[in-house]
Amino acid sequence: MNAVTESTSLAQRPRKAPPKAPLLSGGGLLGHVFFMRDDPLGTFLHAREACGPIARVRLGPLTGFFLYEPADVERVLTTNAANYGKSTRGYDKLRLLLGDGLVTSQGEHWLRQRRIAQPAFLRKRVAGLADRMVDAAADMADAWAEPAARGAEIDAHDAMNQLALRIAGETLFSTDVTGEAGEIGTSMLGVLTQFNRLVASPLPWPERWPTPANLRFWRGVRTLHRVVDGLIAERRGRSEQPADLLGLFMDARDPETGEGMTDRQLRDEALTMLLAGHETTANGLSWTLHLLAQYPDAARRVEAELDRVLAGRLPTAADYGALTFTHQVVQESLRLYPPVWLLARRAMADDVLSGYHVPRGSLVFMSQYAIHRDPRLWSDPEGFDPDRFAPDAPAPGRFAYFPFSRGQRQCIGDHFAQMEMVLVLATLLQRYRLASVPGHPVVPEPSVTLRPRDGLRMRLSPRAA
Ligand code: HEM
Repeated sequence: MNAVTESTSLAQRPRKAPPKAPLLSGGGLLGHVFFMRDDPLGTFLHAREACGPIARVRLGPLTGFFLYEPADVERVLTTNAANYGKSTRGYDKLRLLLGDGLVTSQGEHWLRQRRIAQPAFLRKRVAGLADRMVDAAADMADAWAEPAARGAEIDAHDAMNQLALRIAGETLFSTDVTGEAGEIGTSMLGVLTQFNRLVASPLPWPERWPTPANLRFWRGVRTLHRVVDGLIAERRGRSEQPADLLGLFMDARDPETGEGMTDRQLRDEALTMLLAGHETTANGLSWTLHLLAQYPDAARRVEAELDRVLAGRLPTAADYGALTFTHQVVQESLRLYPPVWLLARRAMADDVLSGYHVPRGSLVFMSQYAIHRDPRLWSDPEGFDPDRFAPDAPAPGRFAYFPFSRGQRQCIGDHFAQMEMVLVLATLLQRYRLASVPGHPVVPEPSVTLRPRDGLRMRLSPRAA
């Protein structure tokens, strides 16, 4: 048969529908919802072993797919991103708190807001915020002097939450929100705990029912709205806006109508930045401190680098590029404990992933936690090895390592967050060591972000001692 006849007969052959992806075994009447509620991290790791590059799950009436193949992650986040929207239960619940801010919005509205926000996150602008980050960390380092001298135990996770919140408030809104930190912190915790239940519940959770948990949730939401509305009202009263993100949003005008943002839109964006900017970074810092306590060799290398580059002075933006090993430690920590541990999207039209049929309306899940620990993609995946990210090491695949996501919806604050983490660590670890407390459990809890379930009790001591 010549080539022409062969291609004609192939084209005439009826096209076979792509097969169904392997179904994860187990699951009861409601499918795998209880797996997802009770042990999501374990479920994502197990399904990879059980089913291969793509696993099909049943979530009540919905079909879901767990993706493990970097090429599929790339397709969903970049090359076919238009087909994968954020109309999922998780984002719907997040909208209760964040409205239509950058994380939760879609389409034209999202694009317009992203364009407005983007200039604030240029490297040059972020470098201008380094001093505020370091000042906040230096204040914390000063406050640690007394407890460190006693060799006291502290909750390092609490401390990182407070610090990241202060930095978010000062860099994004030029306001010290730490006076309100207790209130903001408690409300945030209450809201996020309940939020997790709303998302993981096997049945659609009626969030308006007056159960004690729901009442706590709405009380938390109201407090957060009140605090942020207060920030905006105070700024509306000023004739000139400071050069920060809130100022940028307040000055922004629609090119067609000339209209500015309403107070409601400003609140959505401000709260989004506060949540996205502080909760994630705080968790990233906490996990890094935990890992350094587990791997003293790496901790000593960080100290040696700090001594060499800084020689006892506080870091500046100019030092960020020179603190290469500290940065590698942060990158490796974000691999093992990615604060955003799961991305979810909904398919708007049929698609094919890894050769399998993904019907319109189904959910796709990409877990950074599972993919960052996949033995097919990483050697010794469970081991902490910052040298994976050394400048001369082969770069990890862009879709095998994506703590900040990829594509058009990639984190706008990725550079901001990495610089903040490196400068905070440089400021604190120049003066102190933090050791694990024997018997204190450190268990990752996959809430909206991945955080240490029982906090992070650590023993503080001065480095020179
Ligand atoms: C270690 C710290 C951080 C991590 C791991 C992280 C991770 C992520 C990830 C994975 C996304 C995509 C989420 C999705 O698709 O739903 C995201 C989006 C976002 N992040 Fe971050 N983030 C961090 C810090 C920050 C900081 C410091 C800010 C702001 C100052 C920020 C602001 C945002 C915003 C506004 C979005 C939505 C972007 C969009 O869709 O246009 N993040 N982040």
